[in-house]
Amino acid sequence: MIEWTPALSTGVPVLDEQHKAIFQWLAELESATVDQRTLFGVYVITRLKHYMREHFAAEEAMMKAAGYPNLAEHLAQHAEFRSRLEEIQLKSIGEDISTDTVRFLNHWLTNHIAKTDMAYVPYLKKQQAKT
Ligand SMILES: [Fe+2]
Ligand SMILES: [Fe+2]
Repeated sequence: MIEWTPALSTGVPVLDEQHKAIFQWLAELESATVDQRTLFGVYVITRLKHYMREHFAAEEAMMKAAGYPNLAEHLAQHAEFRSRLEEIQLKSIGEDISTDTVRFLNHWLTNHIAKTDMAYVPYLKKQQAKT
């Protein structure tokens, strides 16, 4: 089952809310795929793509404000995922999104939050304590 779990909590409420919403979109995408609802799949991947763009922008602004040292590496991961989403969305117009694709998205997001996002947490907390 695709869902956000407390193990993925960054402790930064605004980012946790966004991560939860991302997993909700992903669960919708899974149901569109399983039920072969092509148009719904196109709609959901489009929403997910836009939502990820907003989330990445918010996260990137917070990392910059906190002077996060591994910013470049993090930005590169976001950029790569954005282009994957772009490809998946374009493809979804012609054919149903596969379960492998949903699995890839779920795996990428879980892994990214657990490792790459978690690494900025101490820096964001330090920054928040200052303000
Ligand atoms: Fe994130
Ligand atoms: Fe991130």
